[in-house]
Amino acid sequence: MAKKDVKDVELKGKVVLVRADFNVPMKDGEITNDNRIIQALPTLKYILEQGGKVVVFSHLGKVKEESDKEKLTLAPVAQRLSEKLEQDVTFIPETRGEKLENAIKELNEGDILMFENTRFEDLDGKKESKNDKELGKYWASLGDIFVNDAFGTAHREHASNVGISTHLETVAGFLMEKEIKFIGGVVENPTKPVVAILGGAKVSDKIGVIENLLKIADKVLIGGGMAYTFLKAQGKEIGLSLLEADKIDFAKDLLDRAGDQIVLPVDGKVAKEFSNDADITTVSMDEIPEDQEAMDIGPETVALFKKHLEGANTVVWNGPMGVFEFSNFAQGTIGVCEAIAELKDATTIIGGGDSAAAAMQLGFEDDFTHISTGGGASLEYLEGKELPGIKAIANK
Ligand code: 3PG
Repeated sequence: MAKKDVKDVELKGKVVLVRADFNVPMKDGEITNDNRIIQALPTLKYILEQGGKVVVFSHLGKVKEESDKEKLTLAPVAQRLSEKLEQDVTFIPETRGEKLENAIKELNEGDILMFENTRFEDLDGKKESKNDKELGKYWASLGDIFVNDAFGTAHREHASNVGISTHLETVAGFLMEKEIKFIGGVVENPTKPVVAILGGAKVSDKIGVIENLLKIADKVLIGGGMAYTFLKAQGKEIGLSLLEADKIDFAKDLLDRAGDQIVLPVDGKVAKEFSNDADITTVSMDEIPEDQEAMDIGPETVALFKKHLEGANTVVWNGPMGVFEFSNFAQGTIGVCEAIAELKDATTIIGGGDSAAAAMQLGFEDDFTHISTGGGASLEYLEGKELPGIKAIANK
């Protein structure tokens, strides 16, 4: 069912609470990827233009002890947001209290304030992460309306996304709406034929996704580290390639059930060492040497996957095809990006996480219909689960 969004409510003069997912990667206090901040801008700009008084907040990382606070402050995010919006963002280094309440009272129409990492409240009985009733009620009391734009957090039932909704009318931001349209669209009403591409290191991370996508997709192409457990299940020798021995039976059962709906790699790049500078050979999947590890799919597999992608109307991809962080093992992932980029009439979606990072890092950002900002959230959505953060948004 369609959700209410920011355009469905009056914003002028209102204190608009906006839950964003600004859980961005950081290194030594520096933001290393600000995509989640950029993706939140349309909603924030729209509310500001409408004369709303914005109070934006997010979690960042996992706050387990007092000493985590220094490295998990949202201050650098407020700074980056201010640069991107080209306007001041008042940062209040508190999650509650008089200072925050007074700063909100002082907001004028078109002003924006950000408060501190919602998970600082986890130091006091995990109040944020356990969706403490009093905390959700308190945050709700700070505003007139609640806009949830934090798709990346939608699989969590926390005070700052679900708790507040119990007390305040809740609508979706534009990013949340886009994620529901594309990731939700794959699960609920995709245009056939559908081709799913799954990769990444572990089968165990993707069991629910594989099961659900087999119900939806005409073909499921499997690459990345997880492919080797399937190849082992077919009786192939995989050398030192990634193997989840306890998932071989699962893989066997799935291959029996799915038949040619599942497509596995036919060749790969192997090396003795896990290093970009290792000596690399391309071998058939029947010939992986026992002392070597496969770290990327090979050119024949790229061609095979490309053939299966031709004619697809919907493509959904989750998980890289190899160790793309090493340039010498990125060709498989690049090849899949290129094959998808050629499908001009198809709806092409990356379901977040490493594959989203790979596509952006490799320069294919503009070649997909949608690149999700969710990691765990998009995986659970693709598994067919109802996400609590989405459920809490009012229906139209
Ligand atoms: C994410 O990055 O997947 C989300 O921000 C959720 O973060 P979490 O796994 O720490 O809840």
